[in-house]
Amino acid sequence: MKGNRTLTIIKPDAVSAGNTGGILQMMIDAGFKIVAMKYTWLTAGQAGKFYAVHSARPFYNDLVQFMTSGPVVPIILDADNAVDAFRKLIGATNPESAAEGTIRKRFASSVERNAVHGSDSDENAAIESCFFFSGLEMFEAK
Ligand code: CMP
Repeated sequence: MKGNRTLTIIKPDAVSAGNTGGILQMMIDAGFKIVAMKYTWLTAGQAGKFYAVHSARPFYNDLVQFMTSGPVVPIILDADNAVDAFRKLIGATNPESAAEGTIRKRFASSVERNAVHGSDSDENAAIESCFFFSGLEMFEAK
């Protein structure tokens, strides 16, 4: 059965451009409920750990540098089939390939500065949520 939680991060490009409100509104309009949210600034250690799965990729160091270049807004969202539904809402990683009406089509400027992160599986949604927020009870459906 598909889970009903996903983890998103509004990334430094979107926060610094003043797009946090517009992105939150798109999430809410699409039917996602905010379960937890904070405004924070990642250290290099935190960003490196969050993206450790990409540590062998050529873009890893730039990605960590970008993700620590300004404040971010991590959020746990609730909806039916949340991971897949949210990935549909954000659109393709590269905004040039993102569909009309998606968050990345509207707010992203490149594959790196792509406005938002979205978990790619229920398992990673749980891991990533615990990375930013304490308390496993967040994963119990209300
Ligand atoms: P995100 O969904 O946060 O997950 C991994 C991130 O790595 C991705 O969004 C992009 O921001 C970044 N990324 C993926 N592929 C590339 C690439 N080819 N060049 C630069 N950044 C990338």
